[in-house]
Amino acid sequence: MLRTHTCGELRKEHIGQTVTICGWVENKRDHGGTIFIDVRDRFGRTQVVVSPEEGEDVLKLAETLRGEDVISVTGQVASRLEGKTNPKIATGEIEIRGHQIQVLNRSQTPPFYPNQEELPGEDLRLKYRYIDLRRESMQRTLLLRSAIIKSMRDYFAEHQFIDVETPVLGRSTPEGARDYLVPSRVHPGKFFALPQSPQLYKQILMVAGYDRYVQVARCFRDEDLRADRQPEFTQLDMEMSFVDADDVMAMIDGLMARLAHQFLDLELQTPLPRISYAEAMRRFGTDAPDLRYGMEIVDVSHLAQQTAFRVFRGAVDAGGYVRGIKVVGQASQFSRKRIDELTEFVKNDFGAKGLAWFRVEPDGSLWSPISKNLEPPVLAGLQQAFDAEPGDLLLLLADSWEVTCKGLNGLRKRLAAELRLYEPGQFHFSWVVDFPMFEKDDETGRWVAMHHPFTSPLDEDLPLLSSDPTKCRAKAYDLVINGYEAGGGTIRIHDSTVQQQVFELLGMSPQDAGQRFGFLLNALQFGAPPHGGIALGIDRIVMLFGGLDNIRDCIAFPKTQRATDLMTEAPGEVDATQLRELHIQTVPPGK
Ligand code: AMO
Ligand code: AMP
Repeated sequence: MLRTHTCGELRKEHIGQTVTICGWVENKRDHGGTIFIDVRDRFGRTQVVVSPEEGEDVLKLAETLRGEDVISVTGQVASRLEGKTNPKIATGEIEIRGHQIQVLNRSQTPPFYPNQEELPGEDLRLKYRYIDLRRESMQRTLLLRSAIIKSMRDYFAEHQFIDVETPVLGRSTPEGARDYLVPSRVHPGKFFALPQSPQLYKQILMVAGYDRYVQVARCFRDEDLRADRQPEFTQLDMEMSFVDADDVMAMIDGLMARLAHQFLDLELQTPLPRISYAEAMRRFGTDAPDLRYGMEIVDVSHLAQQTAFRVFRGAVDAGGYVRGIKVVGQASQFSRKRIDELTEFVKNDFGAKGLAWFRVEPDGSLWSPISKNLEPPVLAGLQQAFDAEPGDLLLLLADSWEVTCKGLNGLRKRLAAELRLYEPGQFHFSWVVDFPMFEKDDETGRWVAMHHPFTSPLDEDLPLLSSDPTKCRAKAYDLVINGYEAGGGTIRIHDSTVQQQVFELLGMSPQDAGQRFGFLLNALQFGAPPHGGIALGIDRIVMLFGGLDNIRDCIAFPKTQRATDLMTEAPGEVDATQLRELHIQTVPPGK
């Protein structure tokens, strides 16, 4: 070993010992001929002092040191001078009298320093990720990630789960995003698809009798990226046999209680609260509601019948709704300018046609630019429906169900953040259950499986598959933490006639289904146990537990929003020979 101790290890009890530490020069200060160097490694920081009495050679060398040089220092541990201790760091009571310094490697001037106060732009951080990863906050997050994954693995091992690896080179899987494809050299014109999840393999493992499977699995999805989405991300993936939805949720409740206790110092009440999809959409406009605060949606569509006001009446006559939220007691905070900004926000981001707003006056009446258009009973009805008190602000959308949901969810989240309706360390865990089996795809207008096509309908809704499939609900459950979907799973169909019926509803002929998922359908005919499972988004859980707002900061080497790696410059070009071997010709875009 080049060192006797790490930079985070030395304490008062080491005083007097001769030690060697290695690390990066964090900074160097010259105090009238005595040089102070902070040496850093991933364990901590230790102060080294080189005074003139250590001799000319070591002093001269110390003078040449620059930030991020890698050095080793041998010297004697000493108590810091009276008043010079630093309670903020673990080694703050001691320092090393540097007798000998060796430069292990010089560093060029880095594009930024890991300890600089102002965070450099993200592109620079991603290009020089090895410097960025030296920052304390990145280290803290990656250590948290490592500890969370270890705790998850321990939990599942304690519950008799078996860790099984599944292939990365496989066939297209059914999660509904675009696939990343890998051309086959050996089979011209054929492609592997990188897994969007291990879904099919884990179901086949249940057929194979490997009850209680778990894997920390890398998943690949070529979809539009957001702060909480990466093209490759990591799932804690699990599957169980002979279970129903309650069993899977109970298993995850136990895991969440453990993680919350261990990492958030929080005792969760289990079972975690559950809310149905329908109720979540009605009260919060989203299937992943943030339940740390109220500001629930109020439906006042019934009042539209009593008014001639075209905006409200027209929306409801067209099959839409008038719904809104109440900002309690803060009307005075909302200038016309701020309300105009909110109006632009709902228009631009959610396609709303406008935003109606009302201020509750000291006498309890509602004031608004549109109040003159509304009949007194309608105004009274609004006030009553919202239970509006002086000082409250009401924000309403008159639109289709979807636009009122999306717009009010957007407003609710934005206002909660702006008005600080929750504390930084506050957490809310819940389950959203009873999702619809099918939803309409925005782009194609076709019916698609809301989760994936192997999801079982609720027993009581089975007859709806033939009579009114749009009303059919699924044995599906999403874990929601602070308004983020942290996990999702289902009980699977293990009966091949129900599976056929679902494929047909999705417009997939038996031939299509056979071609895409034949191997799974076959397997289901050789003794498939009832089974179900879930996958948790590890990157998102680390983001939430770490109090961060994007998952790029939770991944050692993430992609940009444009799905590139700035450090390795992937994706990159390949040479013509390689393409020829793969039987691939590229076509310039736009042709
Ligand atoms: P689902 O598609 O819901 O389910 O994914 C499970 C969880 O993975 C996380 N996640 C993502 N995280 C980061 N970037 C992404 N692009 C991304 N996409 C999803 C989310 C999500 O809740 N096979 C099923 C699970 C099952 O049915 O057992 C599946 O993959 O936190
Ligand atoms: P207009 O007559 O279209 O200017 O609308 C009158 C007021 O109603 C304006 O304050 C608009 O912002 C608001 N408004 C218009 N359309 C909607 C809508 N779909 N939902 C809520 N408010 C609306």
